[in-house]
Amino acid sequence: MTVPAFLHSYARPAAGPEAFITIVAGQGAEVVDDVGNRYVDALASLWYCAVGHGRDEIVDAVVTQMRRLEAFHTFDRFTNAPADAVAETLRRLAPMPDARVFFTCSGSEAVDSALKLARLAHHAAGQPERTLVVSRRPSYHGVTYGGMTVTGLPANQEGFGPLVGDVVQVPYDDLAALDALLEDQGARLAAIIAEPVVGAGGVYPPPEGYLAGLRQRCDRHGGFLVADEVICGFGRLGQWWGVQRHGVVPDLVTFAKGVTSGYQPMGGVLVGAEVRRRLEADPALVLRHGHTYSAHPTACAAAVANLAILERESLAERAEPIGRRLSAGLGALVDGESAVGVRGQGGVWAIALATGMGAVDVREELLVRGVIARPIGTDTVAFCPPLVISDAQIDQCIEATAEALQAVAKAR
Ligand SMILES: Cc1ncc(COP(=O)(O)O)c(C=O)c1O
Repeated sequence: MTVPAFLHSYARPAAGPEAFITIVAGQGAEVVDDVGNRYVDALASLWYCAVGHGRDEIVDAVVTQMRRLEAFHTFDRFTNAPADAVAETLRRLAPMPDARVFFTCSGSEAVDSALKLARLAHHAAGQPERTLVVSRRPSYHGVTYGGMTVTGLPANQEGFGPLVGDVVQVPYDDLAALDALLEDQGARLAAIIAEPVVGAGGVYPPPEGYLAGLRQRCDRHGGFLVADEVICGFGRLGQWWGVQRHGVVPDLVTFAKGVTSGYQPMGGVLVGAEVRRRLEADPALVLRHGHTYSAHPTACAAAVANLAILERESLAERAEPIGRRLSAGLGALVDGESAVGVRGQGGVWAIALATGMGAVDVREELLVRGVIARPIGTDTVAFCPPLVISDAQIDQCIEATAEALQAVAKAR
């Protein structure tokens, strides 16, 4: 069988060209393929297109920047105006005071950067023994070695070992298990990393008070709290940051996706006061970390324009009404036979399928009905639409899901 030159992410390397749908255009919460099929983009592409597709304002900002200066690096002595501007905006919006901003090109790199900054800050403060990183299972933190190692999905690690050392996972909702670990190991704690709502790991909101519990453990044992806001940031949970919904102040925040709504690839880390203090204490310390395209001016120009839209249109306020309509509609499909529950928060939701249903099969039936959602594992289908989705488009997602569930249940 002939396979295409393009080796796709999260796809079977053996898949032939017929397996792929060529997306050619998009507007708002809708995308179109090369044979004219229209789809509601029910996952904001890959959890990122918060402002919707086809925003000329961002396109113009990117083109203007590229005409002036397409790129120049920001290592050592160099900077650029869009990078400084987006850093100022992110500092103002950050969920902790006096943050600085480190830039990457993706969420995985943001996670790696946060873990490296956490360990380095302890090292700089004379505590090189603090290398232990605690993450949760399930969780999703990306695909680089650091991001993959802290990810709590065993299937994503299979065959890629050995993983990064000194990472321990605990169940995502279990503070007692964390306490048992830290009782022994707390003096070596570098950081705890957690998504406010687990996203690509299956859409699991935290139990009430859980994130505040993580903050307490970090304070008690001297580790940093890293909030992985790659999905939850930029309004997804109804406020700028997921941690704000849960009343928690982190030490480090990883971001990506919604910072540009995907118009250019970008990620980064908000670095809070305590981490900064340790890194800035020695004027001779050089941060030997950074990517060629960190703070790429064109990506930063996209971020400036995207953040302006999010603020001007108060799009974070749309997450809750979207989530209410979506969860009520999906909840009405829970019959115990094809679907057994819904879970989520703000504007990110999932429907849990009954045993034997098959999330990929449901996704296929949704595609036929003009809706793109994302299967997770075998029993979960996730929805995380652009924050500009209309009520009619949400209803279309729900009707399509009802029909898709019926079709898959019938074929079972
Ligand atoms: C919470 C979280 N962290 C990290 C990542 C990795 O981001 P990227 O795919 O941009 O490397 C993702 C991607 O979905 C994510 O959801």
